[in-house]
This record gives sequence, structure tokens and C-alpha cells, in this order.
Amino acid sequence: MKHYFEDYLGSQPALDTADLDPGDAGVYEVDDDPLAVYRDDDGELHARSAVCPHKGCLVAWNDGERSWDCPCHGSRFDVGGEVLDTPAVHGLDDVSLPDGSDT
Ligand code: FES
Repeated sequence: MKHYFEDYLGSQPALDTADLDPGDAGVYEVDDDPLAVYRDDDGELHARSAVCPHKGCLVAWNDGERSWDCPCHGSRFDVGGEVLDTPAVHGLDDVSLPDGSDT
């Protein structure tokens, strides 16, 4: 199971915020953690843990709804990480981007 999880997390691209245009989002690996990163229409970056607090799957960006959706059991989160749809009852964890990532 540990190797599966490492392989799963290791499949995320490294964060390069220069690749994120306003309205873009993605899951990136930062310091061995998967982060859900979204750049809003004003250019501000928003980052949360990409690990769903329900059972630990990784969320994915839903471009149509501008939400983070969990493929495992259907939880959904807004760009601020707050719960939109259960079964998750807690939002995505707050995280900090490394210094210099806000460009
Ligand atoms: S692990 Fe995300 S909804 Fe269950």
C-alpha cells in the first residue's frame, strides 16, 4: 500500500506557477505533498491540500464548475477548499506555497 501511495503521489507534476494562467488550476507536487493550486481571474494563487479529507484520494480540478472534485466518492470543494458536496465533512487543508511561488 505504501508503494502504491508513493507512486500515486509521485505522478503529480512539479509546481511551476508560470504555467498557470488566470482561471487555470491543477494538482502539483510540492515538497512531496500534492497541492491543489488555482489561479483566479485576478491572478491570485489559491492553494489547498489535494488530499480529500474523507478517505484520502486526490481531488481533481473541474473546469466547468470551478471546483475540486474527488473521484472516489463524489465530494466536491470550492476554490477555497470548503465543502460543496459530501461525504467529506471537512474542507481541504490549508497549505502554504513555497516563497516565490506567487508569480
Ligand atoms: S475519498 Fe474523497 S469523497 Fe471519499
